[in-house]
Amino acid sequence: MKLRITVLPGDGIGPEVTSEAVRVLRLVGDFSGYDFEFNEKPFGGAACRLSGKPLPPATLDSCLESDAVLLGAVGAPEFDTFPRHERPESGLLQLRMALGGYANLRPAVAYKAIADCSPLQASVVEGANLLVVRELLGGLYFGEPRAFDQDRQTAFNTMRYSKEEIERIAHIAFQEARRRRRKLTSVDKANVLETSQLWREVVSRVAREYTDVKLEHMYVDSCAMHLVTDPRRFDVILTENLFGDILSDESAVITGSLGMLASATIGGSVNLYEPVHGSAPDIAGRGVANPLGAILSAAMLLRYSAHLPQEASDIESAVRSVLEAGYRTADLTRGRPRLAVTTAEMGQQVEKVVADRLDNRHAYHAV
Ligand code: IPM
Ligand code: MG
Repeated sequence: MKLRITVLPGDGIGPEVTSEAVRVLRLVGDFSGYDFEFNEKPFGGAACRLSGKPLPPATLDSCLESDAVLLGAVGAPEFDTFPRHERPESGLLQLRMALGGYANLRPAVAYKAIADCSPLQASVVEGANLLVVRELLGGLYFGEPRAFDQDRQTAFNTMRYSKEEIERIAHIAFQEARRRRRKLTSVDKANVLETSQLWREVVSRVAREYTDVKLEHMYVDSCAMHLVTDPRRFDVILTENLFGDILSDESAVITGSLGMLASATIGGSVNLYEPVHGSAPDIAGRGVANPLGAILSAAMLLRYSAHLPQEASDIESAVRSVLEAGYRTADLTRGRPRLAVTTAEMGQQVEKVVADRLDNRHAYHAV
């Protein structure tokens, strides 16, 4: 089987972390008989520098013709003052819209080995394992009209959701909950916003098709608090675009580092996989970034695009083992970066364990 993957390293630490993820995928390809074909394209600030456009047409075409897209990170400070459409981030939003994936899955797992990296007490985070299902193509990010008023003294955005947009993301969240602990927390601000009132109505209606999943509704401010005081109470969190952006970064606190978070965007014509962290320009090019978010995103690619769930689990459990063996990138050393391994060393450790697992299974099947 062949799988064409467009790789968009992007900006800052994006290239460093994606190259580790690609190495792990190549390894899986060697063992699984899958022929992964990688096609690297400029994107984000890197593409702006080449062509003035964050999402050049050739990059978009390659993404649309591929089976999956693996992205590093976007954003570079030199573009901070540029108009919205010329900023690297707008390339990401255009790409998401063009690929059509409306369901952004962001798991946050508190690995026991690094529980001490969280500023929260280990007794609070240990065992936490949740999934944020973020609606990705609606809400304030894309709502029209939006503008500055002429004199730039006022600005506005529009938050809009249709019944259909809410329904389709709710189905994904309930299905994910079925594969997990069957609990879904739908997060909104229904005490203030009409969009949230509609959200609540529609999610409650969809819930009737999933009576085996326990549904609760929660206001976003309350959820923000519970996430850091009692993260274990959550299984799947379903929410709209902006709330999901904020809550998923907050959920990184549970894991100990934003560098640990992976994501998959599904539901469109081509799925998109990206670590949740940004381009981290302050540490770019130094080989110190944490590649685990990117590697875990590659695992999600195997699960959702290559239908290789066993290999996806192999990567996830390899990450766990490597952390248990004590390997740490600088973000996981609690301010003692001298104890850290480099991005490449962390990647190699994961690769080694994944290779062992694949090797064992391969040998077992051969008997
Ligand atoms: C994310 C990021 C993006 C978002 C930015 C870079 C546009 O914060 O993926 O969470 O807000 O969606
Ligand atoms: Mg974000």
